[in-house]
Amino acid sequence: MAEGQELLLRKDLERVVDRLHQERTHVAPYQEDYRRLLDNHGKMIRAAMVVLFARAGARNGGRLDDTVITGAAAIEMLHLATLVHDDVLDNAPIRRNKPTVHTIRGNKAAIYLGDLILSRYMEIMASIAPDTAFIREQAGTVCEIVGGELYQESDRHHTHITIDDYDRAISGKTAALFRLACLTGIRLDGQPTDPALEQTARDFGGNLGMAFQIIDDINDFDLDRDTGKPKLEDIRDGIYTLPVLLGFQEDEDFRTLVQQDDPDRVIDYLKAHPQLMEGSRQTAKDYLQRAADSLKDSPMNKDVRSLLQRITVKLTAQI
Ligand code: FPP
Ligand code: MG
Ligand code: MG
Repeated sequence: MAEGQELLLRKDLERVVDRLHQERTHVAPYQEDYRRLLDNHGKMIRAAMVVLFARAGARNGGRLDDTVITGAAAIEMLHLATLVHDDVLDNAPIRRNKPTVHTIRGNKAAIYLGDLILSRYMEIMASIAPDTAFIREQAGTVCEIVGGELYQESDRHHTHITIDDYDRAISGKTAALFRLACLTGIRLDGQPTDPALEQTARDFGGNLGMAFQIIDDINDFDLDRDTGKPKLEDIRDGIYTLPVLLGFQEDEDFRTLVQQDDPDRVIDYLKAHPQLMEGSRQTAKDYLQRAADSLKDSPMNKDVRSLLQRITVKLTAQI
């Protein structure tokens, strides 16, 4: 039953948190900053994907092997490292309503801490890798994440970028990690990988990740929603996300308005053209629907399937 799976997931994630705390000695001299990051963690959706996909194969229900928990912790560490660096690059003062590492300790410490966490992620994955293909998949995904960030950087302040350009950036910087989390689960489940289940992991993770970033980007314009982060950061940084790109498609004059670098005027425009936010919400919902569809004919455990389906339904309701 999906409720039973939910309880298992909660217990698995408690083990992941314990495993993350064991890493504190490895990030000296930034143990306190690392602890602060862990104390302020979110729902750990990426780690959840690792454990759920590890339970998606035939053998499941019992206690998950330590290797899976360690892999889930490492995926969460990769995510943490990217966020610590991202907050430096974006000059973000707060995350989840708490000051970011660089705000408290300066850029140098934030870069070193991100580097240390990233290095430990690599060391851990190398120590549990079932084969070299696993390492290649992990390393290749880190390249994709950096590549996505670099696409975004090279597109900054360009009002002629297209939705394809945006998709390329977010597919790298965000969706690649969600896809990797799902794949890591099935690689570490102790069974030979079923190609059909691997395809599900790719499709589910990739589509969920796209939806996640689009929702994050929509929320940056939603002044009424508490996201624990500053608002209008993307537009201030010249990062044109889906609502803005949909506007460019509809109205040449909107490009000129955006080039004036006045976030308040952009917000006024989006308020006057609600179809842009609505269209973006619909796109996120479409990705979530695609994620849910990928589960349908998959040879996966039915309780895991229904929990994953419930996650997509819950996220859709929150958009
Ligand atoms: C958040 O996006 C950031 C990412 C999804 C990826 C960040 C990746 C890097 C900085 C490069 C790679 C770093 C390492 C350590 C390999 P956002 O800024 O749109 O979201 P936010 O609103 O949560 O800040
Ligand atoms: Mg950011
Ligand atoms: Mg960023």
